[in-house]
Amino acid sequence: MKNFFIKIAFIVIYTGIVGFNNEPEKFEPKQSVVEKVKAIISEMTLEEKVGQMTQVTIQVMSVKQGTKDQHHVLDEKKLEEAIKKYNVGSILNVYDVAHELDYWHEIITKIQNLAVKETRLGIPVLYGIDAIHGATYTKGSTLFPQGINMAATWNRDLIEKIGEITAHETRASGIPWNFYPLMDIGRQPLWPRLWETYGEDVYLASQIGSSYIKGAQGNNIGAPDKLATCLKHYVGYSFPLNGKDRTPAWISERMLREYFLPTFEAGIIAGAPTIMVNSGEVDGIPGHANYHLLTEILRNELKFKGFVVSDWEDIKRLHTRDRIADSPKEAVRIAVMAGIDMSMVPLDYSFYDYLIELVKEGSVPMSRIDEAVERILNVKMELGLFENPFPNKELEEKFACKEFTDINLKTARESIVLTKNENNVLPLSKNSKIFVTGPTSNMLSVMNGGWTITWQGNEESLYPKEKNTLLEAIQEKIGAGSVTYVEGTSFNKEIDVEKAVNASKDCDAVILCLGEVAYCESPGNINDLTLDEAQLKLAENIIDTGIPVVLVMLEGRPRVISSIADKVNAVLVAFLPGMEGGNALADIIFGDYSPSGKLPISYPKYPNGNTTYDYKPIENFDTNTYDPQWAFGYGLSYSTFNYNNLKLDKNEINETDELNISVDVTNTDRIEAAEIVQLYLCDLYGSVSRPNKQLKGFEKISLKPGETKTVAFKINKDHLSFIGIDNMRIFEPGEFEISVGDMKEKFVLKPTSALND
Ligand code: BGC
Repeated sequence: MKNFFIKIAFIVIYTGIVGFNNEPEKFEPKQSVVEKVKAIISEMTLEEKVGQMTQVTIQVMSVKQGTKDQHHVLDEKKLEEAIKKYNVGSILNVYDVAHELDYWHEIITKIQNLAVKETRLGIPVLYGIDAIHGATYTKGSTLFPQGINMAATWNRDLIEKIGEITAHETRASGIPWNFYPLMDIGRQPLWPRLWETYGEDVYLASQIGSSYIKGAQGNNIGAPDKLATCLKHYVGYSFPLNGKDRTPAWISERMLREYFLPTFEAGIIAGAPTIMVNSGEVDGIPGHANYHLLTEILRNELKFKGFVVSDWEDIKRLHTRDRIADSPKEAVRIAVMAGIDMSMVPLDYSFYDYLIELVKEGSVPMSRIDEAVERILNVKMELGLFENPFPNKELEEKFACKEFTDINLKTARESIVLTKNENNVLPLSKNSKIFVTGPTSNMLSVMNGGWTITWQGNEESLYPKEKNTLLEAIQEKIGAGSVTYVEGTSFNKEIDVEKAVNASKDCDAVILCLGEVAYCESPGNINDLTLDEAQLKLAENIIDTGIPVVLVMLEGRPRVISSIADKVNAVLVAFLPGMEGGNALADIIFGDYSPSGKLPISYPKYPNGNTTYDYKPIENFDTNTYDPQWAFGYGLSYSTFNYNNLKLDKNEINETDELNISVDVTNTDRIEAAEIVQLYLCDLYGSVSRPNKQLKGFEKISLKPGETKTVAFKINKDHLSFIGIDNMRIFEPGEFEISVGDMKEKFVLKPTSALND
């Protein structure tokens, strides 16, 4: 039966996989902006145009890097050179630590004064920064849980708020451009940037990323407290075969379109005006040389109207690393002709010099330069920089205010996943005597990860003293007198396991805090997903005491803990919950908050051979199984929920119909708690092997004891579509299965009557 249907598959003129219904708008410069920008371009020299396409780091204009106690020292002459001689369009980063608001204002004001008042055309500079979980590089900012945690909340409204607050605090620093959100999906757990992703699922990541953009940009990036987001890293960066950062991915065009492009498409639809390029390579073509992806797909198919910026030094690397170009100048030609509009050079002006030569020689046409400059200036103008490029003092008032901290705490609480709770050992009584041990117990860096105050985020001494580590939060919650602490081990070296075991003896429960140091990008590469031996040894010794053990994992990626997971009594997977992570964990451990996070990834049980939840039939066939430690979407609560009455309003639909689905969810326990209701779809037969199931809807609801709520979902043909044999998005009539909780219902997508005739 289905075979017949397969032959008449329909091609979808695709309008986005996300089913995002908040009417976000694709970035499209206003006609008035386009006209003004064209007029400016008509006045520009080649040098001024290429300058706009050049981005350098502030380090280039500094004589000394910043330290714990001292700002970086700016070199005024070099600053003038950058802006007046090279006409740079954009500057990024810090050298090397976060600044106070006031110092940011001083730098940005200096830069903009030079650009606006001392250059011929007065074009403002676009400053960019990695404010990935809050204003990373501004001292005292609100630093939220990282991306993987944001996804674990499954809470669109909360993530929108994070976008809003981050935009506020970044703009308060005088910076209008954020290199975030990261729309790479996290399907390779070894990858040291997994924690920057929104997890392994296309739909969840698209929803979370789009919500973030909505909050950060509102419907006008030029509003004083909004900014321009940057989707990164287009595309395929997150799936390195060997798990190491910036190593090759092998992704066929079909899989690229099915799994890796849709999140970027969602970000474009949500209005992101800039995109950063994949630093690695896909199928042998470095991201920065890929005309097909950067122009044919991004511009011609996805109709992206903003500008594309390279990643750090990656145009140069086409020559120095990838050997795609036989000279640095050829690297510039390849990248610009592939579709890159701005080069994050970022340590010199070689891009500027080479590109001018290339245009003069005729190897890069002026039309390509004009196109790039127009895109860049459109964004600058939409940001309002031409009217006022200076920091806005008024935004300081709400910077890191209590309201923002409260949202941070709420997000941290909602982002923590309870994956085991044997005999309801949690929550613990506040009258308990608690023993705390392990390398992540008493550090803030391990809860924040990379891009926190510094790039690697691992300078513990720079962290704000007033924020609580987990140990401090527990002490605050139940009184320091009820808490004993021995570190036990460092991350990878035993310190005093015996002392820890002895100290645990009189306690009612042990909080065992394991995980990873803070890291970012390539320095975070590892060879084995298994947790370090020293930590597993501490765990084994503590487990042997027989005292109930609550394991807390603070980590950027899911380190394998299968040797101890069955032996501990409770597990909280906390990933990187940010500055309020200690308080949030203490709230959960002692019952002031019932956990509601759900895993946005499949937590691996083994260092190798793991699959994602949306595995293909062949991955669950013969000796193959989906066998994670904990599955995608899994997470316990202190309450229990019953699912009933899964209803579909039709059992047959055609391509224009919408299928309405509803389900009743009841809180069957005695405490109020939140539940994330997840809807999955399975296409039973298809011309390309179809995943076991795919998330197509979710709602987070709060239920009082005994309360029942009916949750409604809608499914249309977009949700049923996939990338067919010809690499086009299609949908095929046939039978589908919906599942919510452990209930399942089938429906049929009918062929259209036209095709039946
Ligand atoms: C990272 C980007 C980041 C850029 C600027 C690169 O190394 O890959 O994610 O935005 O640096 O700091």
